[in-house]
Amino acid sequence: MNGAATLLTAERISAGYGKITILHDVNLHVEAGEIVGVIGPNGAGKSTAFKTIVGLVRPRRGRVVFNGEDITGLRPDRVLRRGLAYVPQGRIVFPQMTVLENLEMGAYLERDRGRMRAALERVYALFPVLAERRSQRAGTMSGGEQQMVAIARALMTSPRLLLLDEPSLGLSPRFVSLIFDKLVEMKGAGLTLMLVEQNATRALAIADRGYVLELGRNRFEGAGARLLADPDVKRLYLGG
Ligand SMILES: Nc1ncnc2c1ncn2[C@@H]1O[C@H](COP(=O)(O)OP(=O)(O)OP(=O)(O)O)[C@@H](O)[C@H]1O
Ligand SMILES: [Mg+2]
Repeated sequence: MNGAATLLTAERISAGYGKITILHDVNLHVEAGEIVGVIGPNGAGKSTAFKTIVGLVRPRRGRVVFNGEDITGLRPDRVLRRGLAYVPQGRIVFPQMTVLENLEMGAYLERDRGRMRAALERVYALFPVLAERRSQRAGTMSGGEQQMVAIARALMTSPRLLLLDEPSLGLSPRFVSLIFDKLVEMKGAGLTLMLVEQNATRALAIADRGYVLELGRNRFEGAGARLLADPDVKRLYLGG
């Protein structure tokens, strides 16, 4: 591992809920500039892994290092402040608020109006439809548009690393393609991304590296293209 370029390391994470341990010694790392895909069956612990990294679940063992700093067990707002943003599963927006108000909520850490405007211009450039719909209530937008709002809101903090949990879940094929295109565009703009996806083939196709989690453990990892071509990964996780 190249220490200088490593943005995130989750080292031997064990975590769970109540008495139940879900993650067992899970290791994940993200290098600056990468897209990393995390796949695996329902209940594998993918969302739990992301929640543990961003401080929503406290690990029982192991540590999380972001940007050279130990962030294990830090509160989610502190993690966000350090430049690690998170888009939870289920495209959560503030439905009664307009698109612009949702984006302003995302920028609540930013006190500087100029930098906030700049962040807004960047997300509008990435998602022009959100500029057109800035005054529309988020709850009245289509599922795909709401996912764009959720992603754009996370981008308002100008993060170094963005974690996305199932960004394409439940979207029509057109919006699935659009979201994947946007992830590649964000990478092109210099952002580092890690995503969980049920749409495993597409996720690995855009990923520099990928991980397969199963039953709360690391099962496979490697370059996206290598995982896509791996007969076992194909048979077990890519539907043939
Ligand atoms: N808040 C919670 N309390 C108790 N158990 C939970 C909680 N959240 C998740 N679990 C359990 O942890 C396990 C892993 O769930 P998790 O959501 O991390 O899996 P996942 O890989 O993201 O699955 P999916 O693909 O369905 O989103 C599941 O057995 C789930 O029931
Ligand atoms: Mg999940």
